Amino acid sequence: MRNLNQENITEAVIRSFDGAPNARLKDILSNLVSHLHAFAREVQLTEEEWTQGIEFLTRCGHITDEKRQEFILLSDVLGLSMLTVAMNNEKSAGCTESTVFGPFHVSDAPHYELGADISNGARGTSCLVRGVIRGLDGKPVPEAEIDVWQSDEDGLYDVQYADLDHAQARGILKSDVEGRYSFRSVLPVPYAIPNDGPVGQMLDQAGRHPWRPAHLHFMITAPGYQTLITHVFREDSDYIDSDAVFGVRQSLICQWGLQNDGSYLLEYDFVLQSVASDGLATPVSQCETTT
Ligand code: BEZ
Ligand code: FE
Repeated sequence: MRNLNQENITEAVIRSFDGAPNARLKDILSNLVSHLHAFAREVQLTEEEWTQGIEFLTRCGHITDEKRQEFILLSDVLGLSMLTVAMNNEKSAGCTESTVFGPFHVSDAPHYELGADISNGARGTSCLVRGVIRGLDGKPVPEAEIDVWQSDEDGLYDVQYADLDHAQARGILKSDVEGRYSFRSVLPVPYAIPNDGPVGQMLDQAGRHPWRPAHLHFMITAPGYQTLITHVFREDSDYIDSDAVFGVRQSLICQWGLQNDGSYLLEYDFVLQSVASDGLATPVSQCETTT
């Protein structure tokens, strides 16, 4: 371990994990060091750049608290969150694809009856959302728990309003015996991810925008099925081809139909992957176009 140099330091650090009792941890740390050193060599990292990187991560730490998680945001904008979701949620053909979770879910959203207005005072154009939850065999999934959350017409989630003391534009519903769900809410619009911190500065310096295309978030759970965490995106939304967090999937894009009374209708069916199943292939859209 004396007189280590550019050539042999990587091997020495990797060997330092030889005695790690947890084989998985050993593998992860060894590979992390291997790739980190390769990265530093490849870009010929200067000491000044190393310091800037440390200061950036320090700023991420300082802005992070129980409400703001800058490291997840960093993972999101670097595509690491979506890569991890994609690697861990491969589905059989026909199942609804997963996408990123995001920071705006809350665990104690209000429960609603089917058909209820979950906006609960959130501002926006009225929108009816309905569809069916099915298994891959086509059978309806009754009693599925559907947790939905979204931003209002200003692109803000309820938790982003400091003085709001109740849930808006979020709620939990249960599918009926035929797997059907429905609720009324407001039309989602594109919004910027939190960009007043170091990740926002990084995007700025990289010449990238912080916007996400309009979407609804869904988390659907049912006994015997894998939990589905996903979005449904508006087809005509700005940023649909440049999502700041790389979460868009073709099969999750749908047209929200403008109705005669000025409100919108989204019809979207979800197909859940059963806990036991495998046999993976290309997903298909579950979008029904209504105008
Ligand atoms: C969201 O869709 O809520 C979201 C996802 C990733 C980062 C920020 C927001
Ligand atoms: Fe969102």
